Amino acid sequence: MTENTSVWDKALETKVFINQQVPNFKPSLAIVLGSGLGQFAKRIDIIKTIPYAEIPHFKPTSVEGHAGNLIFGTLAGQQVICQQGRYHFYEGHAIQDTIFPIRVMRALGVETLVVTNAAGGINLDYRKGDIMLIRDQINFQGTNPLIGPNPPEFGPRFPDMSHAFDPAYCESMLATAASLEIELKQGVYISVTGPSYETPAEIRMFRAWGADAVGMSTANEVIAANHCGIRVVGLSCISNEAAGITDEKLSHDDVGDVVNRMSQKLENLVEAWVKAR
Ligand code: HPA
Repeated sequence: MTENTSVWDKALETKVFINQQVPNFKPSLAIVLGSGLGQFAKRIDIIKTIPYAEIPHFKPTSVEGHAGNLIFGTLAGQQVICQQGRYHFYEGHAIQDTIFPIRVMRALGVETLVVTNAAGGINLDYRKGDIMLIRDQINFQGTNPLIGPNPPEFGPRFPDMSHAFDPAYCESMLATAASLEIELKQGVYISVTGPSYETPAEIRMFRAWGADAVGMSTANEVIAANHCGIRVVGLSCISNEAAGITDEKLSHDDVGDVVNRMSQKLENLVEAWVKAR
């Protein structure tokens, strides 16, 4: 392989590797687990776990709370891939590299993506421990993962983002939540680069823009998924009130603690949604 190998060819090489490691595996659904949500893997009947470091063209991850494994298994009787740990732009990865796993999912035949994350609540009605169904997003990472030559095998140069989060999936997620008596907030996720948390002034600005929750991931993956025709549903665990709303200082450890405590609720929701689909 040369430096000039296209991203499509790289994804195919990774797919060949995965097909060798996990024969006869044809998942239509993938799940990206956010900070502190890695335990969801317990819900999966695991066939194979492959650390990113062993997967061709994958980069190692460096964030506490993000394991860095691709998990292959079945959930509610369906073959699924689970990304346990994701790539963040703030780790220093090229933005294009952060979405490579999504492209591999597409090459493997994935049609549905569940994205999860931890997020700060900007909406004053939100409390830590809430779950927000992501209805739309604002990409405020200052870049776009599709910048560069467009690999036409994945999708068009100028992909539509009018329904970045699939409306039918949003409705079915609301129905699943209602059946489990889980209250779901619904709102707009704004994605920032981090790694510093926001200032109170930034949070006031984001609120004026119409954002309800803020985090350091997801928007890039959702753009990549839309580009290659994967339908997306997204859930944010509100791990804290965003900067300036309370006097509390923000810390990654506290975010992790809250998400760990609420993860069972989110796991129940995702598992039930997959079962019902
Ligand atoms: N800001 C940005 N990212 C986050 C936050 C936050 O308040 N909480 C969890 N991830």
